[in-house]
Amino acid sequence: MIFRTAIARTPASSFAQGITGATWVQPPDYTLICRQHQAYVDTLRHLGLDVRVLDPEPEFPDSYFVEDTAVILGDTAVITRPGAAARRGEAEKIIPAVKPFKHVTGIEPPGLLDGGDVMVAERHVFIGLSQRTNAEGARQLGQTAHRVGFTWSTLPVLKSLHLKSGINYLGQNAFLMDDAYSQRPEFVGGNRIVVAPDELPAANTLAVNGTLLTPKGFPDTRKKLETLGMPVLEMDISEVMKMDGGLSCMSLRF
Ligand code: GLY
Repeated sequence: MIFRTAIARTPASSFAQGITGATWVQPPDYTLICRQHQAYVDTLRHLGLDVRVLDPEPEFPDSYFVEDTAVILGDTAVITRPGAAARRGEAEKIIPAVKPFKHVTGIEPPGLLDGGDVMVAERHVFIGLSQRTNAEGARQLGQTAHRVGFTWSTLPVLKSLHLKSGINYLGQNAFLMDDAYSQRPEFVGGNRIVVAPDELPAANTLAVNGTLLTPKGFPDTRKKLETLGMPVLEMDISEVMKMDGGLSCMSLRF
């Protein structure tokens, strides 16, 4: 699928108060994350996307992870109901940005859904059941997916926070994944590229219009990606990873 537009949000100075299970030596640095975020936006623009950058929301330190707050399927934007209570208010902050969509719908209680648990591969939507996404949230999203012409299925999120922390669709029937997913029946027929156990964050590689954006510092994954014949761009997102985030988390693409 060709992306023409993206929505991103500038990190707030409170970003280091976001939810994270990561450990670090140096604390997250605000100047550095702003530089890394700007480089990310510039790269999406360079790849041809019209990127709308929303203002920071200091009240919600994780709110630059806009991917968790909405899922775009065809002409429909689904406003999520994030699974972490501290992030739930982020959903309404994204509504003005998706107003131009023909249909805007939402996940209703008791459904919970984070966009990071939603992986679209061609016309199929994989929905991960995780600490953040429950079966009811998945069912509601699945209903919308079906209405707009996608098939859908659920699977358990294995090991990582979100589904896309551990597996991503790269195009050309290729999936980059943590080994935990490699024997799942839904992926057996695809080209499975397994990340080395010490390179798990690289599983969150983002395919944008035929280019693969991958986090810097994972040489084995980079080599594996290069065999696909698509351009590979490394991006330094050290401060984002400290907050349990990755490349896909920082934009909504459509
Ligand atoms: N810091 C990202 C998340 O926990 O949702």
